[in-house]
Amino acid sequence: MPDSRSEASSAAARPDQFTLPDSLIAYLAGERSPPLALMQLLLHCGSVTACEQLLEAAGAHGSSVQVVQRQGLEELRHLLASRREQCLSLEPLLQAELPGDDGGQDSVSAWAQFFDAAVAQAAPASVALYSLGDPELLDAATGEVLDYFTEQGLLGPRRRILQIGCGIGRFEAVLAPLVAEAHGIDISPGMINAARQRCAGLANVHLACCSGRDLAPFADFSLDMVYAVDSFPYLHESGGALLETHFAESARVLTRGGDLLILNFSYRNDPEQDSREINRLATRHGFKVLVDGVQPFRLWDGRVWHLRLA
Ligand SMILES: C[S@@+](CC[C@H](N)C(=O)[O-])C[C@H]1O[C@@H](n2cnc3c(N)ncnc32)[C@H](O)[C@@H]1O
Repeated sequence: MPDSRSEASSAAARPDQFTLPDSLIAYLAGERSPPLALMQLLLHCGSVTACEQLLEAAGAHGSSVQVVQRQGLEELRHLLASRREQCLSLEPLLQAELPGDDGGQDSVSAWAQFFDAAVAQAAPASVALYSLGDPELLDAATGEVLDYFTEQGLLGPRRRILQIGCGIGRFEAVLAPLVAEAHGIDISPGMINAARQRCAGLANVHLACCSGRDLAPFADFSLDMVYAVDSFPYLHESGGALLETHFAESARVLTRGGDLLILNFSYRNDPEQDSREINRLATRHGFKVLVDGVQPFRLWDGRVWHLRLA
């Protein structure tokens, strides 16, 4: 759930000094899908009404907005109008105070509480705000990741895989028929409950609450792939030691030649720094970096790092 609330918005209040937010510029340049752009604008604005005002102000902003950009703005306005009710239901998530804002509290348990509250409010949006709370959009985004894993040869009937930060179990549900064992762990009991409901009846899915600090429940050399979709940013937020431990732990539980897939590493918006940090951690823990921060998806701007244990 990336947070672009820090991107200052003066659009609705001061149309005379109007500047397009970075996320809108990226969308108009063809670098974002409409749902992703809308999610980023909603985060930026904090409410549906403010987002509507911003889109209107952007469209009214004289000759500097080209025809093709006007069409893009119109598409976003239409998307927001057609999903207004769903977007309104996301407002508590958009406006929620993020752990760390108040300082002090142990950050892993603060994130667990945050995600417990989020999944209780809106399950699809709690794991991927860009779904705009729409289960079909979430399924489509999940399918893109599934296709990527398949193309990369990461799945197979003998593979035992673990997701760190499995959320509502959307990946375990689709990956279970394609692997031997699909494990998922998460710090949020609410997420694990939702995942258990989603994966009920899938005998090779194993879900558990975890400490968020290590992979202690898993034996050495017991897994063929460890992956994390949008959960490393929270480890990153929780401090450097957690990243180091999760690299060391992944190296411990993987078989030789096993794969570590990190889909999004941080939300600091600096992919080059992310790559440098991942390459350093990879070297320290015996991984080779096979894929270094590519963005292979259409619906989602997630970056992929694929590491293989030497
Ligand atoms: C944005 S959600 C993504 C969930 C899931 N990967 C997906 O894409 O559907 C991030 C998840 O990471 C979990 N999480 C955060 N910090 C974690 C940690 N230290 N260990 C395990 N899970 C963590 C959260 O509880 C939340 O369910």
